[in-house]
Amino acid sequence: MTGVLVTGGTGKTGSVLAELLRGGGVPVRVAGRKPPAGDPGAVRFDWDDPATHPAALRGMDRVYLVPPPLTVDPMPQVGPFLDEAERLGVRRVVLLGSAVVLPDAPGALELAARVRARPGWVVLRPSGFMQNFLSPHPVGDGIRRHGEIRTAAGAGRLGWIDARDIAAAAAALLAGPDGHPHDRRDYLLTGPKALSYGEAAAIITAETGRPVRVEPIEPAEVAAGHRAAGLPAALADALAAVDAGLAAGLQDQVSTDVLDLTGRPPRSFAAFVRDHATAWTPGA
Ligand SMILES: NC(=O)c1ccc[n+]([C@@H]2O[C@H](COP(=O)([O-])OP(=O)(O)OC[C@H]3O[C@@H](n4cnc5c(N)ncnc54)[C@H](OP(=O)(O)O)[C@@H]3O)[C@@H](O)[C@H]2O)c1
Repeated sequence: MTGVLVTGGTGKTGSVLAELLRGGGVPVRVAGRKPPAGDPGAVRFDWDDPATHPAALRGMDRVYLVPPPLTVDPMPQVGPFLDEAERLGVRRVVLLGSAVVLPDAPGALELAARVRARPGWVVLRPSGFMQNFLSPHPVGDGIRRHGEIRTAAGAGRLGWIDARDIAAAAAALLAGPDGHPHDRRDYLLTGPKALSYGEAAAIITAETGRPVRVEPIEPAEVAAGHRAAGLPAALADALAAVDAGLAAGLQDQVSTDVLDLTGRPPRSFAAFVRDHATAWTPGA
C-alpha cells in the first residue's frame, strides 16, 4: 500500500478516519477545500475544480470517497475523478454512499453501481447519522434552541449510526489487505437498534434531563426549512420526500456489518448521547 486519500477529510467521518488510519501507521492525505494548516500532508481539493483532482490522487492507491454534499447528482464531478483514479491504478475506493435512497436522484445510485462494479472498490451505505442530532444540523439546532424536533417522519424508525463507527468500518476496509473481507462490495452500516425521532428524543431527555418534544410537520414544511437553511431546491425536496419513506418504515432496519468489519459492536444512541451530554444545553 502507498497511502489513502481521504476526501471529506475535514468532515464527520473523514476526520475520524484519518486519525484512525494514522494511528495504525497508514500514510494519509487529507483533502478538502481548506486543507488544515497544521497538516503538511493535506492537499487542497475541490469537487468543483477538476484541476485539483490529479494532484490529490497521485501516489495514493486507496481512496475514501465522500461525494460533493450539496447536489442530487454527483456524477458530473465524481465521474471524471473516478476515471482519473482508474487511470492511476487506484486499487481500492470506499464510497460513502447512503442507506437512504433519495427519490428522483438516479445519480447517487449510478455512482454506487459504478464503484461496486470495479474489483476492489466498495460501497458503504450508512443509515442516518447520530451526529444529525448535534449542531450544525437542522435537527440538532432545533433541539438546542427550542427543545424541539420538527419532522414528517412520524413514528418511522431509522437504524441511526454514530459517524465514528462509519469511520471505523471504512478504516477496516482501507487499512486491510487487498481483496474483499467477506467477499462483499456493499455494506449496510447501522447502529444496534432502529429508533423513531420520538424514541431518540426520549433517550436525550432521559440521559441529559433536557425535555425534547417532536413536532409533526408536513413534508412541504420540511422542504421549506431545508431551503431556508440554504440547500438547493432539488436537494431540499428530495430530503423532504425521504421523511415520507421513513414514516412508511423503509429505514426500519439494522445490520451486523459494523461488528463484522471492525470486530466491535456499533455504539448505541444512549452512549452517543452520553458522549455529547452538554451539547443540547441552550447556548452551547
Ligand atoms: N447525515 C446523514 O444522516 C447521512 C446519512 C447517510 C449518508 N450521508 C452522506 O454522508 C456524506 C457526508 O455528509 P455530512 O453531512 O456528514 O458531511 P461531512 O462529511 O461532515 O462534511 C462534508 C465534507 O465534504 C467536504 N466538501 C464539501 N464541499 C466540498 C467540495 N466542493 N469539494 C471538496 N470537498 C468538499 C467538506 O470539506 P471542506 O468544507 O473542508 O471542503 C467536508 O469535509 C454525504 O454524502 C451524505 O449523503 C449522510
